[in-house]
Amino acid sequence: MEVIVRANPPQASVLGADYVEQLLTKKPKAVLGLATGRTPVRLYQELSRRPHLDFRQITTFNLDEYVGLPPEHPSSYHCFMQQNFFRPLEIQPHQWNIPDGQAADLEQECQEYEERIQASGGIDLQILGIGHDGHIGFNEPTSSLRSRTRVKTLTASTVEANRSEFPSGQEPPLHVLTMGVGTILEARQILLMAFGESKSEIVAKMIEGPLTAMVPASALQLHPKVTVILDEPAASRLTMLEYYRQVYDHKNER
Ligand code: GLP
Repeated sequence: MEVIVRANPPQASVLGADYVEQLLTKKPKAVLGLATGRTPVRLYQELSRRPHLDFRQITTFNLDEYVGLPPEHPSSYHCFMQQNFFRPLEIQPHQWNIPDGQAADLEQECQEYEERIQASGGIDLQILGIGHDGHIGFNEPTSSLRSRTRVKTLTASTVEANRSEFPSGQEPPLHVLTMGVGTILEARQILLMAFGESKSEIVAKMIEGPLTAMVPASALQLHPKVTVILDEPAASRLTMLEYYRQVYDHKNER
């Protein structure tokens, strides 16, 4: 795992955008895995500030969506993606994929989502955030580390964390569709970003703790090409921090 620490989220996001740019330069038809949440928003904004980048041939797959929310609901991940990625980068409807949380047959939708990822040639770069309980996508603690896209029930703490995304008085959904941990691990490259002191404990567990379904993000330890970009507060509990800095500072000498 490559662990990189930047002073603050803006600097971390510029570096994250550099990873996306490197991929697009090499592969204009890249398949990107996209995440929602506050963490990747600056990275998406940074991409929209790079006019030399051409997004016309990319395909995107989002990690997850709430069950039962129509795409036009302001708290749906469809709506989030329109606002923060598809509209600013002029991504056309035929280019993007998000699980349909309103599908009549949710199991079939999950199966077809997996098939669409396969048919696209697989995800080249998966962008991830991390929940305070160690979830990636919406793979809550005890998710199978080989799980595929499926319906998940959120924990009470994740429902609470999501409440701020919903209009007051509206109960956030308990169920979601999410790519599985196994689906995520099949991406050729993974870029996870985490910011703020509140993420420092779970970040340390993900990188330096045991591989366990209790911290689904720890499954990234099994992946050969993961880059984790942190701000200083999120990195503050890493015991090997000096080593990670040394590795990065001398990266180009190899
Ligand atoms: C939600 C999303 C995750 C995201 C997490 C963290 O649970 N499903 O993909 O990583 O929130 O969100 P934030 O970046 O706002 O901390």
